[in-house]
Amino acid sequence: MSEKRTSIHGQWANRTVFILAATGSAVGLGNIWKFPYITGENGGGTFVLVYLLCIALIGIPIMMAEITLGRRGKQSPINTMIALAKDEHRNPGWVWLGWMGVAAGFLILSYYSVIAGWAMSYIFRTGSGMFLGVTADGVNSIFTDLVSDPERLLAWHTIFMVMTMMIVARGVKQGLEKAVTYLMPLLFGLLVVVVIYAMTTGYFMQGVEFLFTPGTITREGVLTAMGHAFFTLSLGMGAIMVYGSYLSEEYSITQAAIWIAIADTVVALLAGLAIFPIVFANGLEPGAGPGLIFQTLPIAFGHMQGGTLVGVIFFTLLVFAAWTSAISLIEPAVAYLVENKGLSRIYASVWIGFLTWFVGLGTVFSFNIWKDKTMSIPYIFDNLTFFDTLDYLTANIMLPLGGLFIAIFAAWVMREQSTKEELATHPVIYKTWRFLVRFVTPLAVIIVFLNAVGAIKI
Ligand code: TRP
Repeated sequence: MSEKRTSIHGQWANRTVFILAATGSAVGLGNIWKFPYITGENGGGTFVLVYLLCIALIGIPIMMAEITLGRRGKQSPINTMIALAKDEHRNPGWVWLGWMGVAAGFLILSYYSVIAGWAMSYIFRTGSGMFLGVTADGVNSIFTDLVSDPERLLAWHTIFMVMTMMIVARGVKQGLEKAVTYLMPLLFGLLVVVVIYAMTTGYFMQGVEFLFTPGTITREGVLTAMGHAFFTLSLGMGAIMVYGSYLSEEYSITQAAIWIAIADTVVALLAGLAIFPIVFANGLEPGAGPGLIFQTLPIAFGHMQGGTLVGVIFFTLLVFAAWTSAISLIEPAVAYLVENKGLSRIYASVWIGFLTWFVGLGTVFSFNIWKDKTMSIPYIFDNLTFFDTLDYLTANIMLPLGGLFIAIFAAWVMREQSTKEELATHPVIYKTWRFLVRFVTPLAVIIVFLNAVGAIKI
């Protein structure tokens, strides 16, 4: 039974370490790079509102469910699903949920690493003083130069993957702790510095209005907002499950989930407040796409006092944030290979790292030689590049689907007794959680899916 299970990969030293590691997983490129650009593409206010609702009604309950499953199963998501289905005398077919998670993590990391590579190259661009006094056109052409050069992108992607696999090979617990304890607060501080700069542009209120005044949103936009709630909290693919499996029994899952969600959301909103005033002050396009932060932040660093130093530190910390997230994307796959194939962590990491790197080449080329090669899936999406396709399939489909089934498993498949025991929380909180994961969360996900394909109208 679950009481006797222990993780073969070790345990977190205490609850704080778990919260730090999970926050490290959650806070990453999703908050600083992706949130602003998809908010810009989807028109601002309403998108942000839907995103915040999804965090509260879908994200937090699913995070609690995911940690609960992980801590009870104490293994990689694949073996956890096998073990829990057995404990509950249910169909072993639930294992596919673990497999889908491993696949999603692997696909996300393949492009995540390429974008982290952009951030790395910006450490050096900022450091060389390239942005001093720069204009909006100048930053734009510097960005275009970078992404149109496959060799440079490939080099940075390779460096980032090697860095990630080195940490994963040593085991996620060493080193991670310190990185998150000191570097995350510093990143937060520097974001505040950029927000303060944004206040001096004279366009701060335009930025605030863009982010918080409801306007219109497309059906696709609603799906993207929900998908992003999963992405930014690292939910739906077993990353938080595997981190939960290293958590010892005596800690409160509820508190951890709420704290992680708040920290993650604050960072995203700060990034929005830093970026949109710069967008409007310089006549840039909010919907500029994945390059948005690389076309706005350098303007701030090129014009503020001490901007070169602030910029170098900022991009360095952004790479660290991406790093602590990347580790969690690949940990489920590595844990599985160690458990089932008896591979050493080093061997498993090198293998998976190599495969991820290889798939990442598709994203490298999406911004240059394959820029015009697009794919479509009828009713689902039209004309997306390789990178956009991967992003769409993972964030908009696989993660919400994974989350939906995690909620169903925790609320309908597991006995009430099991989750009550594992969550060990105040009865009112337990009842609220159970109501949310039983009804609200699954229905919300299903409605957003049906709405996106046009089967219903909300
Ligand atoms: N949440 C991270 C970010 O916002 C990315 C990430 C890490 C992730 N682990 C994940 C996304 C697991 C989905 C699933 O940058």
